[in-house]
This record gives sequence, structure tokens and C-alpha cells, in this order.
Amino acid sequence: MINFANLADKYGTPLYVYNFDTITERFNLLKDSFKARKSLICFAVKANSNLSVLKHIASLGGGCDCVSIGEVKRALHAGIAKYKIIYSGVGKRDDEIEEALKKDILMLNLESEEEMARVEAIASKLRVVARISVRVNPNIDVKTHPYISTGLHENKFGVEVDVAKRMYIKAKYSEFLEPVGIHFHIGSQIVEVEPFREAGVVLSSLLRSLRALDIDIKFFDIGGGVGIRYENEETISLYEYAQSILASLGGVDVTIVCEPGRYLVGECGYFLTKVLYEKNNGVKRFVVVDGAMNDLIRPSLYSAYHEVELLNSSNEDVSEADIVGPICESGDFLAKKRALPKTKHNDLIVVKNAGAYGFTMSSNYNTRARVAEVALEGENDRLIRRRESFEDIIALEKDFL
Ligand code: LLP
Repeated sequence: MINFANLADKYGTPLYVYNFDTITERFNLLKDSFKARKSLICFAVKANSNLSVLKHIASLGGGCDCVSIGEVKRALHAGIAKYKIIYSGVGKRDDEIEEALKKDILMLNLESEEEMARVEAIASKLRVVARISVRVNPNIDVKTHPYISTGLHENKFGVEVDVAKRMYIKAKYSEFLEPVGIHFHIGSQIVEVEPFREAGVVLSSLLRSLRALDIDIKFFDIGGGVGIRYENEETISLYEYAQSILASLGGVDVTIVCEPGRYLVGECGYFLTKVLYEKNNGVKRFVVVDGAMNDLIRPSLYSAYHEVELLNSSNEDVSEADIVGPICESGDFLAKKRALPKTKHNDLIVVKNAGAYGFTMSSNYNTRARVAEVALEGENDRLIRRRESFEDIIALEKDFL
């Protein structure tokens, strides 16, 4: 049992709290499900980029999947080995490509023919060989929120199978490119195995045809996307997930790479917020808390459901309420229509499953300071990011007055 009241006293609210033991447990379960093969787990940094989280991933032997040079630098700074870092993304700038090549990371994951030409030109200027993989869009419909579905031709990600093949052949004959990986990522918060199986079949067939052309692909990168239970979703079994990929590969000898974000850190995280006021306008009951959409935007942006719990409540006088923040927008809510006991000033509410895409998507909207982050390990708690001050917020502007 986590003592949230103590944490709130010690670190203040709003607050993100991450249980690192849960990350360890999840990491080991995933690693285990691929134990029949060589595998590399590259944590999707975008889900939670706190340096201490990344350092923890490094201590477990994990790598990182990054989508900006900033994330690459974070991963390196936290101690992730350079040969375990992948750099993906549809829009890499020249300077980002150059820096990634200089840092000699495992591979750049390419998303267009034009991008490959840029990478080749920059590698040739630097006189280095760029290790690359191509992100293939297998055109598979995943039933998830449209904003986080990525494997359909109407999405901006990756290239079609034929284009990928053309890119690999071109890369094979380039002095400055070395194709080493093949990649797909079909979406996020996926709760069924079938789309992974379908993508596995498409990609492993491409892999076999590349091997036949003497293109030596060593890494089979199956992206991220494994969903978690926010409300009452049936989540997928890791065994079936791994088997669906392994079966499509048959006997082909490759290292499986996967890029989990939410699966590793989603359920380890709690967003702790304090009740300020209650109000009831006769039509609706609102519980106004000190946390807001700038801290956790998922409910506002994706209508995402997060379980909430009012701590130490008597469970009396329960009625339906919206939990809303102090921001000047009607879209500023953390939960809607929840059965909640009557609250009082300073009561604590914990918003669950908030470890992924919580803090990383937070902002200073309404000149609100980004909150502190705390890690729990065993019996201990420790600060891993201090709360921003007003001085922090204005630091980059104040000298221009
Ligand atoms: N690999 C690539 C190339 C990705 O684009 C993503 C996520 C991942 C891995 C990790 O996916 P995961 O295992 O976490 O599903 N902000 C949204 C999620 C956006 C996901 C973007 N890409 C949310 O809060 O639900």
C-alpha cells in the first residue's frame, strides 16, 4: 500500500508518483516472453522521459526508442548504451540526423525515401556508415483512438511494403548506408493480438525476401502498442503476443526489438491531486482539484478514462461528479460522471495508471508550474524532479524585457 498522504505532505501536490518495482516487474515479464530468441527492449522515451526512469531502464538492461535528438541525448545522459538506442520519427531535421550519426547509436529508423537520401548525404559528408531500418506501414486497422492509430495508409507513418523494398535495395548498394533493421509500429493501447499477428506476417515475409536478396537484416523491430487496463479492457496475453510474432518469423534468425512505452510505465504511475472546493449548480456537481489538464491531458485530449480514488473517505453521501481543474477551459477535467463521496477541502484524490504520457505531455498552460515527480523503490521514496518555480517558468523570457 502506498502512503499517498505522506507523499503529499512531504512533496506537495499535484504530484506524479512512479513505482519503479512495477517497471522492473513489467520489464522482466516482457523480456521473458521473448526468451526463446535474442531480444532487446527499447523503452519508448516519449511515454515517460524522466532521467531516473531511463536510468532504471538502463539498469534492467534495456535500451531506448527515441523520436527526437533531445530524447536521444536524454537516453545517453541517463546511461543507456549507445548501441541500444533507436531513433525513429517522420520528421528528423538535418542537424538531428548529423548528431545521431556522430553519437553512433544502433540505428536510424527511416520513414520516407527522401529522408533516406538526406541520411545518405549527411553520412557521406561525415564519412560514416549510417545503420538504418525502414518503418513499414502494413495498412492494418487497429481498434484504438484514431489519434493513436498509426498503421493505416491514411496515417503519416512509415512507407508501403514496395517502397520499403526499393529503399533496402538502394541502401544495400550505398557506400554510406547499412540496412540492419526492419520496423513496424501500428498504434498504441492495442488490446488484441490479431493486428500484431497480421503485421508480423507482412513484415516477416518482407524480411525473407530481403534475406533472399542478400540484405542482412539483424533486427526485427515490432514497435510498441501493448495496451493496459484503464477501465475494464481485456488486455492481451504477453505469451500470445510473443508467439504471434515468433510464429510468423519461423526459423529466421533475428534479434527481436520491441518498443513498449505504456506497458512498462503506465500502471506504475499515479497522479496525486488535492481537493480545493466542491460546487453544485443544481444540474451538476463539480469537485475542483489542484491538478489540471496541463498536468494530465489524456482525459481532455482523447476522452481517456483514468480510475480515480478519493482517499480516506467515509464512503458516505455518494453522488455523481466531474473532477475538474483550475484551468480556464471547459475541457479541463480529469474525470467525468464518477460516483464520489462528499469531499472536503484538502482531501486527496489519486488518478491511476498515469505513468505513461502523463508528465511528458504536460505544459505550463495558464502559467502553472510543472509538478514534481517521485520514485518509489522498495520501502523508499525519492524526488526525481523538483516542482518548477515561478522563476523557472519565466527564466527564458525575463531578460528580454
Ligand atoms: N514506438 C513508436 C514508433 C511509437 O510511435 C510509439 C508511440 C511507441 C513505440 C510506444 O507506444 P506504446 O507502447 O506506449 O503504446 N499520447 C498517446 C499515445 C501516443 C503514442 C505515440 N507513439 C496517449 O496518451 O495515449
